[in-house]
Amino acid sequence: MRFLLTGGAGFIGSHTCVALLNAGHEVVVLDNYYNSSPEALRRVEKITGKKVTAYEGDCCDADTVNRVLDNEKIDAAVHFAGYKAVGESVRIPLNYYENNINSAITLCRCMSAHGVKRLVFSSSATVYGEQNQPPYTEDMPRGACTNPYGWTKSMIEQILTDLVVSDPQWTVVLLRYFNPVGAHESGLIGEDPSGIPNNLMPFICQTAAGVREKLSMFGNDYPTPDGTCVRDYIHVMDLAEGHVKALEYAMQHQGTEIINLGTGEGYSVYQVVRAFEQVNHLTLRKQDAPRRAGDLPESYANASKAERLLGWHATRSLEDMCRDAWHWQQLNPHGYRE
Ligand code: NAD
Ligand code: UFG
Repeated sequence: MRFLLTGGAGFIGSHTCVALLNAGHEVVVLDNYYNSSPEALRRVEKITGKKVTAYEGDCCDADTVNRVLDNEKIDAAVHFAGYKAVGESVRIPLNYYENNINSAITLCRCMSAHGVKRLVFSSSATVYGEQNQPPYTEDMPRGACTNPYGWTKSMIEQILTDLVVSDPQWTVVLLRYFNPVGAHESGLIGEDPSGIPNNLMPFICQTAAGVREKLSMFGNDYPTPDGTCVRDYIHVMDLAEGHVKALEYAMQHQGTEIINLGTGEGYSVYQVVRAFEQVNHLTLRKQDAPRRAGDLPESYANASKAERLLGWHATRSLEDMCRDAWHWQQLNPHGYRE
């Protein structure tokens, strides 16, 4: 099969390119490199020995998307493209609503016009909001999000669900990711945050590398076993392989399906830090710090639907995530930049 990956040069998209190519599929990437580098795709080709067809362009621009769909025979798409920084979305919400929602609508319109009606969408566990209690199951109602980024995911889920109701030829798989971390085992591709990382694992890596002076661990008085927040960290290659299964599922089914991609296991901030130190034989400079606004005490998946529908479950451990993240950081101290 031949799949279009919008945002395919990004962190999750590049790993998904590897998993798809390794599974014998072909990939076409559309990315404007706003938060990524074409170098990631060259590395994908190096890892797999296979070709990536890449277009540089904006997914909000219908002419661009139509050109890709005119040129390439596409069986289904994954819509990764979007902005994802939670804090930034609070400061510049219109940019987030504009880019995330317009890109999704433009892609669907162009796909419809080309008779390509199978889509996998990158949603997030953030749509469960504050009302629901983990482990989260897909039948829970979406909750109130705590930031504009989360609302874009919730709104796009609704838009895509309505699209399927209006035209039953569509198949949409809404994948709710938990906390993707780690990197490909080769250390050739990984997460390359611009500026100061918001997320725990890249901040840990940069602290270990001496780029950041000290890790602040936000909040130790939550109602959790050790007082720090619990998350469902998932190795990005497990997540990538989940996309292969989701696309293969979308090729054989119709309608809307919501699927959590997590391990089903929660780890606290202290547990992640300890695992990173142990597996990589180092000690991080770190301190307890006040809570970060908007953080929920706990978030983890019930991962049984992915197993049942896709025959997929995560196989890599927290130790694998910590080792592979550090391997990538050591080999690429400046990310994809020289
Ligand atoms: P990323 O920023 O690394 O990748 C997104 C890619 O989309 C980038 O390559 C960027 O250049 C591209 N892009 C953005 N707007 C575009 C546009 N208008 N046209 C073309 N390309 C555009 O992010 P990621 O971590 O790989 O996340 C991929 C998707 O998964 C995003 O939609 C994100 O919101 C979602 N997601 C990520 C996480 C996470 O923790 N990383 C969690 C849940 C959901
Ligand atoms: N944390 C620290 N220090 C840091 C960074 C993070 O202690 O320097 C803590 C956070 O306070 C939180 C935990 O580590 O308790 C995980 O934080 P991340 O920022 O790595 O992940 P989040 O769970 O906050 O966010 C992730 C995704 C978002 C998504 C959200 C909800 O990055 O895209 O899950 O699904 F919206």
